[in-house]
Amino acid sequence: MKKRVFSGIQPTGNIHIGNYLGAIRRWVATQAEFESIFCVVDLHAITIPQDPKVLKAKTREVAGLLLAAGIDPEVSTLFVQSHISAHAELAWILNCFIPVGWMRRMTQFKEKSEKQKDEVSTGLFDYPALMAADILLYNTDVVPVGEDQKQHVELTRDVAQRFNSIYGETFRIPEAEIPQTGARIMALDDPTQKMSKSEEDRGGTICLLDSPDEIRAKIMKATTDSLREVRFDEGRPGIYNLLVIYELFTGQPREEIEARFEGKGYADLKRELAEVVIEGLAPLQARYRELTADPAHIDSLLTQGADRIRPIAEKTLSLVKERIGLG
Ligand code: TYM
Repeated sequence: MKKRVFSGIQPTGNIHIGNYLGAIRRWVATQAEFESIFCVVDLHAITIPQDPKVLKAKTREVAGLLLAAGIDPEVSTLFVQSHISAHAELAWILNCFIPVGWMRRMTQFKEKSEKQKDEVSTGLFDYPALMAADILLYNTDVVPVGEDQKQHVELTRDVAQRFNSIYGETFRIPEAEIPQTGARIMALDDPTQKMSKSEEDRGGTICLLDSPDEIRAKIMKATTDSLREVRFDEGRPGIYNLLVIYELFTGQPREEIEARFEGKGYADLKRELAEVVIEGLAPLQARYRELTADPAHIDSLLTQGADRIRPIAEKTLSLVKERIGLG
């Protein structure tokens, strides 16, 4: 029996190389080894205000990008969260088993709600319950994510364990899988902040659909330090981040990369890195253009994906309802 993988991505903002290196690329690499399910989480997206037309277009765009990146719909299941109503239903039930104190500890909520204060939606606060429902509905073994989602997966484990201890074995306890390198790609203009798709375009984020000129300009402007040596040193976050991106796109060992830039300056690294990223993204961008020429095809793959796995979600939900005396 293959282990089951589940992971998700929000259809908001522009998908960037942080999402790609920290999550998507790994989903593609291991999809055949596992039974893989990937979800475009539109119900999570509405925890902050969205324009309906943009949300719909972004949902298709993100699905297109995942397919262009190499998610194979014959091998993996790709679907849209709102197409399977069990997600929202299980999220409600799990809510009733998550102490508010657990939610208050979630650092992502603290960061995201800082600006909006009391205007922030209850949905944003409750976001981890929906994420737990996503994962637990499919008896997931492994959840490959970037580092920022680790705490949410831990909460998922906690609520599953709590439910199991009250009602008997119901949920499988999932494990987060965080990569050793690339789990937290930093913003180019401020390497103390993670690269993020929700920020307004600040030049710190390389989006998967950026043109070669945009990529060159952003990388050449990346914040570094006043030293010169090109070396993997976590204490120098700007240059370290650029080197990690170089490492992940080229697959070269660190010593080789350091040797390559021995005696050279930051500008040389930036120039080469820009070309490496442009080349690395070119096949994805070309496939994306082909795929989006036929949007109906993407929609039909998403419908088929949801139809294929809905029975798994419904089975889990029925078991949960039976356990707690609903229906
Ligand atoms: P989202 O849409 O913010 O990000 C999608 C994936 O990209 C990773 N990621 C990063 N990795 C490295 N460096 C970065 N700078 C970076 N930024 C983002 C994220 O960790 C994530 O793996 N809540 C999730 C979506 C979700 C989900 C789920 C994930 C909903 N349900 C169930 C797993 C399982 C989110 O907002 O991801």
